Amino acid sequence: MKKRIMIVAGARPNFMKIAPLLREFRKRKKYFEVLLVHTGQHYDFEMSEIFFQNLKIPKPDIFLNVGSASHAIQTARIMIAFEQVILQVKPSLIIVVGDVNSTLACSLVASKLDIKTAHVEAGLRSFDRTMPEEINRMVTDSLSDYLFVSEKSGLRNLKSEGITSNKIYFVGNIMIDTLLLHMQVINKSNILNEYGLTKGKYSVITLHRPSNVDSDETLLKTFDILNSVSQKIKIVYPIHPRTKKMIKKHNLMNKFRKLNNLQMVNPLGYIDFIKLMKESRFVLTDSGGIQEESTYLGIPCITLRENTERPVTIEKGTNHLAGRNKQKILAKVKDILNGNQKNGKIPELWDGKTAGRIVKILSMNG
Ligand code: UD1
Repeated sequence: MKKRIMIVAGARPNFMKIAPLLREFRKRKKYFEVLLVHTGQHYDFEMSEIFFQNLKIPKPDIFLNVGSASHAIQTARIMIAFEQVILQVKPSLIIVVGDVNSTLACSLVASKLDIKTAHVEAGLRSFDRTMPEEINRMVTDSLSDYLFVSEKSGLRNLKSEGITSNKIYFVGNIMIDTLLLHMQVINKSNILNEYGLTKGKYSVITLHRPSNVDSDETLLKTFDILNSVSQKIKIVYPIHPRTKKMIKKHNLMNKFRKLNNLQMVNPLGYIDFIKLMKESRFVLTDSGGIQEESTYLGIPCITLRENTERPVTIEKGTNHLAGRNKQKILAKVKDILNGNQKNGKIPELWDGKTAGRIVKILSMNG
């Protein structure tokens, strides 16, 4: 009998992590029946559908349509809907990825119904519990039966939390599978022409963490940083809906729009965004995934956070932690513009074969 597996995705950073798994399982159709569940945590075209198109992800088998709400309400809505799905479909395993509310909610439901859970991107820790994602990571890992780790710090973290080593597998970074598979299409993206940009002559910024965008004080600080950086190099800023909502709420849109060298654009799809990053001089970000993708691409990354759950991007890659300290950020920008930048190395097992390793492990275990 085929093993019935359910893969869960809900938010933008999940889609590039599930695509390689679906592709790999398709090669083993004889042994697995795979169903895709989309919780609907993200729902705008630019936050969801465009990733399905870009990455050729099949239409979800089940759509929970939960939408936005507070953490408790969103998590609860996903749990209520997902419990019904599990009871009807009776999978033998669910796979969750990353650290969003959908990841936490579905792993909690599955483990209470005694369904095995696999977590892809397990073991990452920022040790900062003010980040909602840190709570999601810790709870999901503590409940999971298979913990698929992307970088070695994850092995240390899980071990120190007392998770038995026979549940933990170092498989590498699944996002790099997607990056490598689409490299030719990425190279053909026309986004630089569309935005009137020249390779190496602009920077990219993305910011969406609550700690960076949810108050007028932090937004004004961001404005101050962008104002200074934009005097040195053009900045392209694809604005996350959360950030846009906050900028509007605090009546700051005109202030941002008036910055000459700042080009604010809508969130981009996968192909165009990676192309934008790949040809840029450097990126400024508070995203987790971008720290990893820039390391793989060899593009300098300045992370506007006090910590990172992805330390390999600093130890081996091109990432620098600058917090929200304007002087630190500007010093880094100056270094990079003067050609003093880390070259970086590609971390171990970031080789495009992670999904294959995961599916092989799941094939061998019942
Ligand atoms: C979520 C994840 C975060 C991830 C980010 C990537 C959690 C706790 N957070 O944060 O880890 O890095 O996604 O994007 O799971 N909104 C829209 N359209 C959408 C989705 C959201 O307009 O399609 C707006 C809504 O106003 C919503 C707000 O953005 O309230 C925040 O969305 P939410 O999913 O709660 O968190 P993100 O900030 O997107």
